[in-house]
Amino acid sequence: MAKLTLKDIDLKNKTVLVRADFNVPQDASLSITDDTRIRATLPTLKYILEQGAKKLVIMSHLGRPDGKVVAKYSLKPVSVRLQELLGQEVLFLNECVGDDIKPEIDKSKEKVILLENLRYHAEEEANEANFAKKLASLADIFVNDAFGTAHRAHASTEGVTHFLKSAAGFLLEKEIKYIGGAVSNPVKPFMVILGGAKVSDKIGMIENLLPKCDAVIIGGGMAYTFLKAQGEPIGNSKLEKEKLELAKSILEKAKTLKKEILLPVDHLVVDSVDVNAQGQIVDQIPDGKIAVDIGPKTIKLFEEKLKTAKTIVWNGPLGIFEMDPFSRGTHEVANFIGSLRTTSIIGGGDTAAAIAKFKLEDKMSHISTGGGASLEFLEGKNLPGIAALTDK
Ligand code: 3PG
Repeated sequence: MAKLTLKDIDLKNKTVLVRADFNVPQDASLSITDDTRIRATLPTLKYILEQGAKKLVIMSHLGRPDGKVVAKYSLKPVSVRLQELLGQEVLFLNECVGDDIKPEIDKSKEKVILLENLRYHAEEEANEANFAKKLASLADIFVNDAFGTAHRAHASTEGVTHFLKSAAGFLLEKEIKYIGGAVSNPVKPFMVILGGAKVSDKIGMIENLLPKCDAVIIGGGMAYTFLKAQGEPIGNSKLEKEKLELAKSILEKAKTLKKEILLPVDHLVVDSVDVNAQGQIVDQIPDGKIAVDIGPKTIKLFEEKLKTAKTIVWNGPLGIFEMDPFSRGTHEVANFIGSLRTTSIIGGGDTAAAIAKFKLEDKMSHISTGGGASLEFLEGKNLPGIAALTDK
């Protein structure tokens, strides 16, 4: 059923409680190294302010402090960056619940308030009803824009919806439109690219998407378990022995369903995974060699297939893209997808980092802000943070 969204609700003179996912990476000096998740929430925050909300109270987690106050997980640095990006003063409160919070919000001259890390309280992850009620008591309406945390049934994502009218923010809406749309009603031909190190991370996704898509393209470390399952030599490349039978059964299932699975046909191999290692392109991986990227014939093969796609979902890099000499396959395929007039959906995590590294963000239709959340969504699971929102 369709969920209430921001545009369905009257925000004028209301205190609005927004759950954002400001779980951003920081360096050792706590400087934010990637503010994508803060930027991605700005349209929601700005719209709430433009609609004349009385107060905008934002809550988030950062890291995994396990119910304790851990200074390095404070959201204070986020409040500073948020203030710069919004171009408006942000009051930072160093707690998220307690007797003082509501009066502080009511009397603040700033319209925007950011609360301290929700996960300083164990009740957040335990989805404790009383804690959720305390959060809800701070506002008139709840807006969830934290797609990255939508797979967690926590007090601030699920619990709070039992006490307030709850709507999806623009970011959450966009993620549902693209990722949810690809899963439930993709425009065909629909192709899925899977990569990354482990087959085990992608099983749920393959099982959910194989019947729905027209072809699955596999690269990255996980491809070698599949090649081995087909009886091909893989040298010392990444192998998940205990997943060999599973890989065989996926290949069989694809045959039964008449779905194509494309695997690499040539490889960049090295003696050791070292940025200075001498690489060599081979069709068959010799004994002792390790494949670290797809080769040029594979890039061509994948591109030939992808050029007919109307929807592409990509989850997992095709080689060790973090090391420049091994990034060509991921880079060229990303460039190619960016040149197509097709709906291209990047499933968060490492793939999003690769697209950012190649500065191709503007060329993709949608880059998910969720790692685990986008994976679970693509696996066809119900995300509690979405399911709990008020029905239209
Ligand atoms: C993420 O970064 O994937 C989200 O913020 C969720 O974080 P978590 O895995 O610690 O719940």
